[in-house]
Amino acid sequence: MTSPSLRPLTEAERLRRAYGTYAVVTGASDGIGRAVAMRLAEAGFGLVLVARRRAVLEALAAELEPRTPIRPVVITADLSVPDDVDRIARETADLDVGLLVAAAGFGTSGPFVDGDLAAELNMIDVNCRALAQLTHLFGRRFAARRRGGIVLMSSLVAFQGVARVANYAATKAFVQSLAEGLAPELKPFGVDVLASAPGPVMSGFGQRAHMTIRSGQTPDEVAVGTLNMLGRRTTVRPGFLAKALEASLMLLPRSARAAMLARVMAGMTQAA
Ligand SMILES: NC(=O)c1ccc[n+]([C@@H]2O[C@H](COP(=O)([O-])OP(=O)(O)OC[C@H]3O[C@@H](n4cnc5c(N)ncnc54)[C@H](OP(=O)(O)O)[C@@H]3O)[C@@H](O)[C@H]2O)c1
Repeated sequence: MTSPSLRPLTEAERLRRAYGTYAVVTGASDGIGRAVAMRLAEAGFGLVLVARRRAVLEALAAELEPRTPIRPVVITADLSVPDDVDRIARETADLDVGLLVAAAGFGTSGPFVDGDLAAELNMIDVNCRALAQLTHLFGRRFAARRRGGIVLMSSLVAFQGVARVANYAATKAFVQSLAEGLAPELKPFGVDVLASAPGPVMSGFGQRAHMTIRSGQTPDEVAVGTLNMLGRRTTVRPGFLAKALEASLMLLPRSARAAMLARVMAGMTQAA
């Protein structure tokens, strides 16, 4: 008979042991962040739910409460405001946080020079500046406790420039590169870093970015595919669609990938 200590760990146990007790999830009010928060609550994590919409976060916290032994914490923050990001660090200072999932983000589309510059700079603040700030704050804390995990939301568009989403793709190139560089830096401190690079996902993202996403993965598929690879890889293409797109693109030179994705993006941004 197998002794209990030799029983293989379930994914939930593996994640909780490696990255518990609390997980900070940004973008928890919608889409991928919300799906990640649900999965982590089921795995027994305490959740710190971060986004701008308080009422939505409070409704989610009430939904999660019966699923997790630890009462969820709600922090409303506009991540484009550096003081709000610092407040997340202050308000979690007394919690045993071991996991950061930086899922908050948004996209813009259309010709860059025709777009609203303030919106483009705001996107850099949310997708890059706040993400770097949070990664620095929690990366330090995790390194000091010699245990932790950091998940950064990259994208299929991170691996080449893409016309009509030029600035959005550039923000994701920053995220991808930051994750790849940080992973070996933090590994000796027991901290795992993962870049998650999905293809199209059916969430609130398309509407805000003025893109038509007719088919894509569900946020839950992305959440599960991502969490399963934390501690096992530096980059994951979560789900079947992301892997199929990678397989069809990876053998092409960068310039050919850029040309192909420019054509795809032209179709996704015209009717939107
Ligand atoms: N959907 C896709 O096709 C796709 C593909 C690849 C990568 N991604 C990436 O995956 C991540 C999650 O996207 P999603 O599909 O889940 O999008 P989503 O459904 O639109 O959710 C975005 C989340 O980010 C939060 N957020 C946006 N701006 C914020 C701000 N200034 N301050 C605080 N929170 C903010 C939103 O909450 P509030 O509105 O309540 O603030 C929401 O919870 C993003 O980084 C995105 O770039 C998405």
